[in-house]
Amino acid sequence: MTTIRSLSLNENVHSLCELPVLSGTTGPDVINVEALYKQTGMFTYDPGFTSTASCSSTITYIDGEAGILLYRGYPIEQLAEKCTFLEVCYLLLNGELPTTSEMFKFESTITIHTMVHDQLTNFFKGFRRDAHPMAIMVGVVGALSAFYHDALDIKSKNDRDISAIRLIAKVPTIVAMCHKYSTGLPFMYPQNKLSYVENFMRMMLGTPCDDFAPNPVLVRALDRILILHADHEQNASTSTVRLAGSSGANPYACITAGIACLWGAAHGGANEAVLNMLKEIGDVSHIPKYIAKAKDKNDPFRLMGFGHRVYKNHDPRAKLMRTTCHEVLTELGLHDNNLFKLALELERIALEDNYFIEKKLYPNVDFYSGIVFHALGIPSNMFTAMFAMGRTVGWIAHWAEMIADPDQKIGRPRQLYTGATKRDVPKNHNTSS
Ligand code: ACO
Repeated sequence: MTTIRSLSLNENVHSLCELPVLSGTTGPDVINVEALYKQTGMFTYDPGFTSTASCSSTITYIDGEAGILLYRGYPIEQLAEKCTFLEVCYLLLNGELPTTSEMFKFESTITIHTMVHDQLTNFFKGFRRDAHPMAIMVGVVGALSAFYHDALDIKSKNDRDISAIRLIAKVPTIVAMCHKYSTGLPFMYPQNKLSYVENFMRMMLGTPCDDFAPNPVLVRALDRILILHADHEQNASTSTVRLAGSSGANPYACITAGIACLWGAAHGGANEAVLNMLKEIGDVSHIPKYIAKAKDKNDPFRLMGFGHRVYKNHDPRAKLMRTTCHEVLTELGLHDNNLFKLALELERIALEDNYFIEKKLYPNVDFYSGIVFHALGIPSNMFTAMFAMGRTVGWIAHWAEMIADPDQKIGRPRQLYTGATKRDVPKNHNTSS
C-alpha cells in the first residue's frame, strides 16, 4: 500500500467533518465513524481491527493492559472460584446470576436436551476415522439446523432461547462423539443424573463396559476450564459468529462459522499446537534452541501458547489455568512426568527472557489448557473441540444480543482496492485456439 498523504486526526479530519465520540460504561471511548464516508468520501483502514470497535456489547469487558476480564461485570477470578460453568452460562445469556430456582430450571432444561437426534450418528459415519475432530464438529454442528426446523425463527425470542439451550446441551455430546468415532469406540448416551461436566467426562472417557466414577477434583478443574473459555469479547471466532448472524443465518450455521474460525492455530488451535510443540522440543536441554528460534525474525517459529492480541500483561485466565494445572498434576501425581516438567521449565525460561519481557509476551490460556487436557487423558487433536465446547455459550450470547438489537444490520466491511484499474479484455483474446 502507498501512503498518499497523511492526516492529523485532530486538525484535518475535524476540519472535514464532525465525528461523535461515544463512551461506554468503562474502557476507551470510541470515535463513531458511521458518517465518515458520507461526509468525506473516505473509509477507515484497519486490517486486523486493531483500533476498531465492531459493535457495542454488554456481555464481556477486557482491559488487556491491566489484565482484567469481566463477564457481565463480574471478575473472572470470582466466577471461577464461586460459580459453576452452568451458572456462568446463565449469566452470559441473561445478564444476571441465577437464583436457586432459576438455576434449577436452567440446569434441568439443559439436561433434558443433551441427547442428539439418533439420525445424527449417520453423519459421523460419512467421515474418515482419522478426520480431524474439528472438521467433524464443523459438519455435525452445522447439520443440527437440519434437525430443529421447529425453532429457527430468529425473530422469536423463544426460538432463540431454545436454540441456545440446544447448542449448550448438545455440543458436549457431539464433542465426545467425535472422540469416540476417531477411536472406534461406541458412542455413549448422556446420563441425566450426572452434572454437566460429569456427564461430559463420562461420555468422553467412559465406555459401556465400565462404571465411570468421575474424580471430583478433575470435574471441578474441567468446570473451571469451561468458565475460563466461556467468552472473550469480540475475538476472531465471536466476530465471525456475529458477521455470519448479521445476514440472518440460523444459529447453528453461525456457531459452525465460529467453530471453523476457532480451529486456526493463531486462535483456539493454539492449545493443540502447544502440545505438538512440547513434543517437538522433546527435552529440557533443547529449550534454549527453541527459544532462539522463536526470537529469530527469519524463522517463522513462534512459541505457541505465548502472546495475546489484547493482553499485554498476564492473561487473568492463564493465571487461574496455571493454578488449575498444578491442582490436576498434583491430583494425578504427574509433576515428574517429562512433558509437564518440560512445559514448566519452558514457561520459567521464557518469562525470564528479555525478548518476551520487552514484547509483553506472557503465557496465554492455551499454554496451560493443553497441559491440563493432556493430563486429563484427552488427546491433543480434541483440544480445540474442548475450547469450542466452553466458548459455545459466549458465541450464542453474542449472536442473541446482536439479533435482539433493533438497529442491527448486515455486516459489510469495505476495502482499500489495490488491484488493476479498469482495463479491456484484448480484442483477439481466445484461449481455445
Ligand atoms: N513467539 C515469539 N514471538 C512472538 C510471539 C510468540 N508466541 N507472539 C508474538 N511475537 C512477536 C512477534 O514476532 C512480533 O515481533 P515484532 O514486533 O518484532 O515484529 C511481536 O511479538 C508482536 O506480535 P504480533 O503477531 O504483531 O501480535 P498480535 O497481537 O498480532 O498476535 C498472537 C497475537 C497471534 C496471539 C501471537 O502472539 C501468536 O501468534 N502467539 C502464538 C499463538 C497463540 O498462542 N495463540 C493463542 C492466542 S490466545 C487465544 O486464542 C485463546
